[in-house]
Amino acid sequence: MNISTELEVALNEQIGVEFSASHSYLSMAAYFERNAFDGFAQWMYVQSEEERLHAMKFYQYLNDRGGVVRLPRIDAPHWEYGLVREVFEASLAQEHAVTEHIYNLYKKAQDESDFATVSFLKWFVDEQVEEEKTVSDMIDKLKMAEGNPESLLLLDRYAMERKVAKPA
Ligand SMILES: [Fe+2]
Ligand SMILES: [Fe+2]
Repeated sequence: MNISTELEVALNEQIGVEFSASHSYLSMAAYFERNAFDGFAQWMYVQSEEERLHAMKFYQYLNDRGGVVRLPRIDAPHWEYGLVREVFEASLAQEHAVTEHIYNLYKKAQDESDFATVSFLKWFVDEQVEEEKTVSDMIDKLKMAEGNPESLLLLDRYAMERKVAKPA
């Protein structure tokens, strides 16, 4: 069964949301890199790559369901940020917005009784819980390190260890 026009539009929007998250994380990575936080930069590169893979997961799904992929325009992200903690807070706000988008998609799919899309979206519902938790934890750690450059550099080194988690 082909996807409905309404869900096709919504899934294309979601591709844009994921690519724009990827774009914005890439910009955060550049900001960290030019401020000598190599670990936080690595973290954001990984995050950016994961968002790209999310976009591709939607792209593939839309193709598989006989939909037309129409890549939307991506807005330019910020390139200047403040404190390290503020960058991660911006990241958390972005994740909250993405979660809301996923929930709206889920509701649409449920309303249409498109159970294949409901099932496909479950992975993203769980993934958002994980992503919000990871960023929140980092913000908590950054708050503890506030005013202590040594701890901040230790966290930078810790962030360096993050690896790309390939979606299932
Ligand atoms: Fe994502
Ligand atoms: Fe995300």
